[in-house]
Amino acid sequence: MTSKPLSFFTQGDIKDSHRDIPTVGIGMLGYSFMGRAHTNALKKLGYTYWPPPANPQLISIAGRNGEAVREAAHRYGYQTATTDWRDVISDPAVQIFDNTGPNDQHVEPTIAAAQAGKHVICEKPLGRTADEAYEIWSAVSKTGVKGMTAFNYRFFPAIRLVKELLDDGTLGEVRHFRARYHQEWLVDPEAPTSWRLDKAIAGTGALGDLGAHVIDLARYLVDEPATVSANMATFTKERPGGHVDVDDAFDAVITFRSGALGTLEATRVAPGRKNHMRFEISTTKGTVIFDQERMNELELHLIDSTPAANAQGFRRVLVSEAYHPYWEHWWPHGHMIGWEDSFVHELGHFLSAIAEDKPVGPHGASLEDGYRCAEICDAIVRAAESGVRQEIIYRKL
Ligand SMILES: NC(=O)c1ccc[n+]([C@@H]2O[C@H](COP(=O)([O-])OP(=O)(O)OC[C@H]3O[C@@H](n4cnc5c(N)ncnc54)[C@H](O)[C@@H]3O)[C@@H](O)[C@H]2O)c1
Repeated sequence: MTSKPLSFFTQGDIKDSHRDIPTVGIGMLGYSFMGRAHTNALKKLGYTYWPPPANPQLISIAGRNGEAVREAAHRYGYQTATTDWRDVISDPAVQIFDNTGPNDQHVEPTIAAAQAGKHVICEKPLGRTADEAYEIWSAVSKTGVKGMTAFNYRFFPAIRLVKELLDDGTLGEVRHFRARYHQEWLVDPEAPTSWRLDKAIAGTGALGDLGAHVIDLARYLVDEPATVSANMATFTKERPGGHVDVDDAFDAVITFRSGALGTLEATRVAPGRKNHMRFEISTTKGTVIFDQERMNELELHLIDSTPAANAQGFRRVLVSEAYHPYWEHWWPHGHMIGWEDSFVHELGHFLSAIAEDKPVGPHGASLEDGYRCAEICDAIVRAAESGVRQEIIYRKL
C-alpha cells in the first residue's frame, strides 16, 4: 500500500478549491452581545462548513460609540468602523446586512438595507410591535432580497431533531406544548435599568426578549397559535437609572389551530435560573423534553406496548451522531458543541439560501415568521391588559 505524500494538498489545490467558493461581504449593525455572537459564527462558518456556501468577508461594522466600534472592528477583523449604519448600507462591498442592534434599530436600518439591495438578517424580536414587524416584512418582500429573522434556537441540533421526530410521525400528534424561558438577572431590585427595561426601545420586557424564542418554537414545532389568555407583571418599577415600563415576567395559556394546548412563560426574575429555556411536548405517541442548559441532549419517552414497557421511562438521547442535524460540520460523537454554534448553523442556512436562491423557510425563520411571532406578542399584551382571551389574527401581504 502506498501512503499519500504529506504534500497531498498543494498550494495549487487549495487555491483551486477556493476558486469555486463565492465570497459575500458582511455589514454588521451592533458589536456587543449579538454583534459578537454573529461575527464569531461568520468567522467559524468559513472553515467548519466545508465548502461553505459562501466565504464571509467582514467589511463594515456600525455601533453607537465611536471608540468602542473602532475597537470592535479591530478585534473582530472588520475593514471599516462607523457610528452611522447608513455608511454600512451604502458600501458596495456589503451584500448582507446583519442587524444586531437593539429593538428600536430594527425597522429603519433593515428596510433601508433591503432597499439598497442588501440581503437582510435581523435579530428578534423583529419589531417592538406587530405593526413594526409587519412593516419590515412587507417592505423587504417588495425588494426581492432574502430576509431572515434570527431565531437561533431553531438551529440547535436537538431541537431540529425534535422537528424531524414530529414531522416523520415518530412522535404522533401534539397534545401539549409547555415552554418556559427563565433568567435571574433582574432579581436584585438594585440592578440598574438598561435599554431592555425601556418600552420606547425594547417594546416589551421578558415577553419580546425571552418569550419570543418560545413563541417561535411553538409555531415551528407545533402549529399556529389561535387564541391566548395571559398575565404580565412588573415587580420592580423603579431601578437605578430610571422607571421600568416593561414586564419582568409573563405567562400565557394558548390554544393551537390543531386543537393542541400550550403554556408559555418567561421571566427575568427567577433566582438560580441562568438561561433556562425548556420545553416539553406530549403527543399521542410519547413525550420529548429539551433543556437549553443541556443543549446536546433530549429526554424521550415513547409509548411501548411490549412487556418490557413496565421497566420503561424517559431515556436520555445524546444528539451528536454524524447523522444528527448539523453534526456533519463538527466533531466525532460525544465531543460537544455549544450555544454559540447555533449561530453558525443559522448564518450558514442564510448564506445557503442566498447562494442557492432558495427560501429561508421552513427551517429558518422568515420575516413573516418574525411578524407572526410579534402578532402573538401583541395578543399576549392585549390579553394581559384586558383580562380577556384574545383571538390571534394574522395579516397577509
Ligand atoms: N438570538 C438571541 O439569543 C439573542 C440574545 C440576545 C439579544 N438578542 C437580540 O439582539 C439584539 C441586540 O441585543 P444585544 O444583547 O446584542 O444588545 P447590546 O446592548 O449588547 O448591543 C447593542 C448594540 O447596538 C448598538 N447600538 C445601540 N443603539 C444604536 C444606535 N442608535 N445606532 C447604532 N448602533 C446602536 C450598540 O452600540 C451595541 O453594539 C436585540 O434585538 C435582542 O433582542 C438576541
